[in-house]
Amino acid sequence: MRVMRAEFMLSAAEPRGFPIAEAPEVAFLGRSNVGKSSLLNKLVNRRKLARTSATPGKTRLLSWFRVVGEEREIHFVDLPGYGYAKVAKSERRQWKGLVEAYLGGREALRVAVLLQDLRRDLGEDEALLMRWLRAREVPTVLALTKADKWKPMQRAKRVKALSDAAELPASRVVVTSATSGLGVAELWAAIDELTAEALSCDPGVAASRRP
Ligand code: GTP
Ligand code: MG
Repeated sequence: MRVMRAEFMLSAAEPRGFPIAEAPEVAFLGRSNVGKSSLLNKLVNRRKLARTSATPGKTRLLSWFRVVGEEREIHFVDLPGYGYAKVAKSERRQWKGLVEAYLGGREALRVAVLLQDLRRDLGEDEALLMRWLRAREVPTVLALTKADKWKPMQRAKRVKALSDAAELPASRVVVTSATSGLGVAELWAAIDELTAEALSCDPGVAASRRP
């Protein structure tokens, strides 16, 4: 999809603040500081659309972004990161509630982009998320981030190890860098394919419009 326009729609701190679903949604999920907001920005070529920070735990809300192409519109949803040790228990509970409400009930959700730092192994949180997504039949793309921090030779090894661990086909694993733009075209190809179906034809829309 050629992006004509990208804009912030709204943020929600609780499920009743979620907007009515109007377009297929692509969710960006992953550990705090993995690079969700940065990659989202890179995909739409807007450096400061979603807020990024060197301090983990910057994104505390779910944020919706309208991404308008020549013929259609999709929405990106930036989710708060998990796994940040310094976050208080009450906030972790809030995160869990928000994310479960979104992943569990959002009919408009078409693709989950699960981000994983290329340098780290997949953890329990990622395994849990992937089980959830599989159970809900939400196609998942594993985006391995910050690839610019590795030499190309080392990258290939990590990609193999991580795609095996994730049990995903090669077409659903993309090596990315929000710094260099590596993998952006491949990620778009996957997003395009998985969001191609118009939301208005989907009987599930009625359900997702319920408050
Ligand atoms: P939370 O909102 O806290 O969950 O974090 P996030 O996953 O949205 O991460 P964010 O995009 O804010 O990036 C975190 C830090 O990693 C920032 O300092 C970014 O500049 C850096 N970063 C993100 N992507 C890349 C990348 O591809 N390469 C490099 N070298 N740094 C990156
Ligand atoms: Mg963020």
